[in-house]
Amino acid sequence: MSNIEQTLSIIKPDAVERNLENEIKEIFKNNGFSIVKEKKIQIEKSEAEIFYKVHETKPFFNELCAYLSSGPIVVMVLEKDNAVLRNRELMGATNPKDAEEGTIRKKYGISIDKNSVHGSDSVDNAKIEINFFFKD
Ligand code: CDP
Ligand code: MG
Repeated sequence: MSNIEQTLSIIKPDAVERNLENEIKEIFKNNGFSIVKEKKIQIEKSEAEIFYKVHETKPFFNELCAYLSSGPIVVMVLEKDNAVLRNRELMGATNPKDAEEGTIRKKYGISIDKNSVHGSDSVDNAKIEINFFFKD
């Protein structure tokens, strides 16, 4: 049975800065994802703080929000069968050092903070995150 889902993906500032936008989009398309919405934007730190609210008590929260708002990002809605999980698999582990061969973070990630991509971690959070960036 098919289970088409949407998930939110972000190409983070470190990857946009290195002109990896098109290469990373090709990886998504080659892995069967449709990019149904996309925009290149730069957000305010205050917006990053809302987006990453689940991490507000973590020691890395301030740097994380400063980083996500430090330069242009590409925000995309990806669609595919089981998109949330499939995207997490394609991204690889949070720390690029732990990411498996063939994953986006293994290939492009610089460090645990500059790990090139974001992806929603559940269907519920995907809906919240898509709505955050693409309110109709
Ligand atoms: O992005 P992912 O869902 O894999 O990881 P997370 O645990 O939700 O953390 C969100 C983001 O915070 C990560 O992608 C990293 O950029 C950053 N982070 C960090 O800078 N230092 C850590 N020790 C953990 C996460
Ligand atoms: Mg996460």
